[in-house]
Amino acid sequence: MQILAIETSCDETAVALVKAKKGVFFAVDEYISSQTKIHSPFGGVVPNLAAREHLKNLPILLKKIIAKNKIRRKDIDLIAVTEGPGLIPALLIGTNAAKALAYAWQKPLVGANHIAGHVYANFIGAISKQIQKSKFKNQNSSIEFPILALIVSGGHTELILMKKHMNFNIIGQTLDDAAGEAFDKAAKILGLGYPGGPEVSSLAEKYKKQKTRYKIQDTKYRLPRPMLNSPNFNFSFSGLKTALLYTVRDNPKILRSKRLTGEICAEFQQAVIDVLLHKTLSAAKKFKPKTILLGGGVSANKELRKQLRKKIKNEIPDTKYQLPDTKYSLDNAAMIAVAGHFKFRSVKNKKIFRDNWKKMEADASLKLS
Ligand code: KG4
Ligand code: ZN
Repeated sequence: MQILAIETSCDETAVALVKAKKGVFFAVDEYISSQTKIHSPFGGVVPNLAAREHLKNLPILLKKIIAKNKIRRKDIDLIAVTEGPGLIPALLIGTNAAKALAYAWQKPLVGANHIAGHVYANFIGAISKQIQKSKFKNQNSSIEFPILALIVSGGHTELILMKKHMNFNIIGQTLDDAAGEAFDKAAKILGLGYPGGPEVSSLAEKYKKQKTRYKIQDTKYRLPRPMLNSPNFNFSFSGLKTALLYTVRDNPKILRSKRLTGEICAEFQQAVIDVLLHKTLSAAKKFKPKTILLGGGVSANKELRKQLRKKIKNEIPDTKYQLPDTKYSLDNAAMIAVAGHFKFRSVKNKKIFRDNWKKMEADASLKLS
């Protein structure tokens, strides 16, 4: 089965051509146009600006992927698009284009949930250029149900238990800011660029190297680990951001010194990681999943990837640990193709997908179901 997928939920315009064979998925080709530079001066994504950029870039990317892969109507079995959650002006551009394409080609159209996409990013077997070499080697045989997925992105922080495909049980979530949002706000407070996650983590990494090299003592700027001991699997990151704001206000030299900025970045990153790890491990001990999956933009964070691996190995060594390729941690269309595929498979009455070209709606706060 070949799936053509579109993602426009936030500030990346993305298209992908994904091949599914025996439950293994390969991105045959894919293109992403990032709007980071456009939104950067505003310190966050401006929805109408994002929509305008999607409108400009999506036809170009679609034309490119169709031309480069000589896609004809008969080559495509399914069209998948993000129907939510996300920014409504942005979602409307992708869903509208997908509906037009599904109508023109008379193909089934499936609306995928963006969060499900981040979970299913873990099922993408190989990237474009490796396809000829690796053929259809099953790289996903290591993912076994039940799965506990920690999805950490700019808009979401969720712990999801899955007994089987397309069965999502949210056992914990953030009560305020998402983990990625916290990184973005921290970067803003520290006068760093947008998106904040990569900026904060790169300064934290530099500082940690210096710390070992010059045997620097532990930080005196201690930040809280919110809800670490709450008797549930929920998260809260807005207090951590406020604590950072007050620390910087009371110690203005942090902003003047690269080393001190790095020091506070390392402490902030570690506070987020400590909470994520503690809640994930507690949930894993209670629900005993066979696999723990990580997904969403924050899952590109090297320290989070490394520390979660170590903790699982030390505390629950029989549990498998699955990570997406870092390029699939961030928003992309290949993950939408895979999530769309599983949704298509899970519904018996395929007629609804044939009718979707006229019926599908975008939903900014679409729930996982
Ligand atoms: O999943 P994603 O691309 O978009 C949403 O669905 O929101 O996630 C974007 C978020 C941003 O908040 C960004 O700061 C964060 O992921 N992020 C990171 C890293 N790379 C991206 N956070 C921490 N460390 C990183 N290396
Ligand atoms: Zn995302």
